[in-house]
Amino acid sequence: MKIDGKPTRTIWVEGDGDAVGIIDQTQLPHRFVTTRVATLEEAAHAIKSMQVRGAPLIGAAAAYGMWLALKADASDEALERAYAVLHATRPTAINLKWALDEVMAVVRNRPRAERAAAALKRANEIAEEDVAINQGIGRNGLKLIEGIAARKKNGERVNVLTHCNAGWLATVDWGTATAPIYMAHDKGLPIHVFADETRPRNQGASLTAWELNKHGVPHTVIPDNTGGHLMQHGMVDLVIVGTDRVTAQGDVCNKIGTYLKALAARDNNVPFYVALPSPTIDFTVSDGVAEIPIEQRGPEEVAMMTGKTKDGRIETVQIVPDGSDVANYAFDVTPARLVTGLITERGVLKAERAALKAAFPERA
Ligand code: MRU
Repeated sequence: MKIDGKPTRTIWVEGDGDAVGIIDQTQLPHRFVTTRVATLEEAAHAIKSMQVRGAPLIGAAAAYGMWLALKADASDEALERAYAVLHATRPTAINLKWALDEVMAVVRNRPRAERAAAALKRANEIAEEDVAINQGIGRNGLKLIEGIAARKKNGERVNVLTHCNAGWLATVDWGTATAPIYMAHDKGLPIHVFADETRPRNQGASLTAWELNKHGVPHTVIPDNTGGHLMQHGMVDLVIVGTDRVTAQGDVCNKIGTYLKALAARDNNVPFYVALPSPTIDFTVSDGVAEIPIEQRGPEEVAMMTGKTKDGRIETVQIVPDGSDVANYAFDVTPARLVTGLITERGVLKAERAALKAAFPERA
């Protein structure tokens, strides 16, 4: 992604080689702020406070967090502690555990003196692999968009609805759900995105809209409740969402509200696609509703809203009466039967055990 004409990733090793840099996503869309992350504690804070978020980026940040921990102390105790501290930051996105296991596998049996370098090497590889995977997802998803565009008359635009932010900001580059959108736009296809605002943290309104703006992709931010109405009126050609965990049988866990979009899509014969990198598949679980831990976050995210006033001040205000209880489930599960297809780096698959296993035998 280019920010002000400069190719920019969402996480990088700082010039002095002593820390990583991140974009503090809690400041967007109003301020573009980068932050230096130099310790295990800072890495854990960045993930937990959602300065970095989105399943693939959480994974990459955790891998770098292992490096930062081992740089300070490469003992077995420090290694186990770093894994535990980072693993406890967020419970739902499986990319976190996947990345921690990847780093663990390359450092565990090494002499202490080599551990930090080995962790950094694997973290860099995970970041590079994420970019390549997302480009693969982009190419495979682009074919779907091209197919829809070819069936339209008079160059009418292709309308994609997306939920939350499964974009460049949620990955190291390109995004998952957005990779096909960016590629279609770059190819000159007339594409338009409906971005669900995604209460309570507004990742659609704050992050997806921000990055679509930066890339020049036509888009419209809609309240979360709007998608069903648009689908009933033929205004959505396809839905593409990201995911935090896909089970062995193809159930999809993603940001709260995704399930309702899938139900509306099914009722209106709108194709519902999920874009996922292979590290998001969790072959150890099958029934997503029963087995995936759903993160519950603080009530303040529901009770409060932050925004920019007309005179440019950032303010947080309460929108719920004092004394009302609120609930904040961060994710839900869409059963495989509602998913039209899984857009992966190895092709568009049926949301079925056999298809996932055949495409990713080394993970199954
Ligand atoms: O709570 P968040 O903002 O980390 O949730 C992000 C999502 O739900 C994304 O859709 C998912 O991680 C896929 S990101 C490519």
